[in-house]
Amino acid sequence: MEPVSAPALDVAAVAEQFPILAREIGSGPLVYLDSAATAQTPEPVLVEMDRIYRESNANIHRGVYALSQESTAAFEGARATVADWLGASVEEIIFTKNVTEAINLVAYSWGRRNVRAGDRVLTTKMEHHSNIVPWQLLCAEVGAKLAYVDVDDDYRLDLDSLDRELARGDVKLVCVGHVSNALGTLNPVAEIVQRAHAAGALVLVDGAQAIPHMRVDVRELGADFYGFTGHKVYGPTGIGVLYGRRELLEDMPPFLGGGEMIARVDWDMSTWNALPWKFEAGTTPYVEAAGLGAAIRWLSALGIDAVLAHELAVTEYLIERLQEVDGLTIRGPLDQPRGTAVSFTLEGIHPHDTAEILARDGVCIRAGHHCAQPLMRHMGVPATSRASIGVHNTRADVDRLIDGLAEVRRVFA
Ligand SMILES: Cc1ncc(COP(=O)(O)O)c(C=O)c1O
Repeated sequence: MEPVSAPALDVAAVAEQFPILAREIGSGPLVYLDSAATAQTPEPVLVEMDRIYRESNANIHRGVYALSQESTAAFEGARATVADWLGASVEEIIFTKNVTEAINLVAYSWGRRNVRAGDRVLTTKMEHHSNIVPWQLLCAEVGAKLAYVDVDDDYRLDLDSLDRELARGDVKLVCVGHVSNALGTLNPVAEIVQRAHAAGALVLVDGAQAIPHMRVDVRELGADFYGFTGHKVYGPTGIGVLYGRRELLEDMPPFLGGGEMIARVDWDMSTWNALPWKFEAGTTPYVEAAGLGAAIRWLSALGIDAVLAHELAVTEYLIERLQEVDGLTIRGPLDQPRGTAVSFTLEGIHPHDTAEILARDGVCIRAGHHCAQPLMRHMGVPATSRASIGVHNTRADVDRLIDGLAEVRRVFA
């Protein structure tokens, strides 16, 4: 992420809004360095969801009584918050279960109508499985080819390989993560969109690791589809978002069939509801959507630029301190622009062992393939350890991690 200047964040006050951070495990307070997997939930989100269950709970859209109208207002209000946050209109914001479902929606609905035998779908070698597997399924079904943009030795996308693929003239869709969860790489999405559009391809962006940290305007980016997931942006689980350009969504057939997504149902045929409800079959997780709306309003009130400036400063300190650890290799870009997840390996020590020893003292990091198995093979490692910085993290958290890594090295000496 590009460095920004912004007023300083009162991080102690921010951290106090996360009840879970008061827990003590091992030798002290919890150090949560795994926001890239799931961010913790601040008080305003808990309060909003609790409020709906206690005061306004009723199924949305169908009720004429006050509870249902209040729930509907909370749900559609959350959609307006998300639309505003992304610079989109409300018809273009579809609530899904998570970003995985958002990507699958595009693969099933847009993909099966628009991708044909002999076409190509282009993704990248640093994608999460959720931006690979739906395209494998689509390509296998329609007889298209799935190709990958390369990752260079500096853990950044090789844009020459993107250009070579686009020059073939058969690429229908480029699927790219805005920020890599496994490497921390920030991809030049606006540039990729320009090149893809010039070659006649559309672009889907997986924004799961970008939205919690940075200002994203989907129209400025030019993205055709942009997805993200609620639980990484301080919202609840079970809710995600797909933005799609209105003309594309209008043209796409429904993804799932059932209640809510129809205009009229007859014995042998049905017609579809207007956008965005055409893509929201069944009872949507309206409480979770309201929680997501509360999370975004909370982040927005903190000031996303201030959040990013703080997180990048802590990330820079993290990278600096990790480089002091003997035998440690950072698997991702060392310099800005980058995201706030930092992957690393320790020579001779399995990442799971590293994470387990850290966990004894309440330091939570993630170890594994980070749902990026092909990338791990490409890098020649079975797994990495990953520390990721969220809005509540401080240099003191980084120091606890570094002390813990010294203990890991002592245990395995
Ligand atoms: C870049 C990226 N894409 C997609 C996902 C999948 O998110 P979800 O499981 O919420 O759909 C993740 C989660 O780790 C991610 O980091």
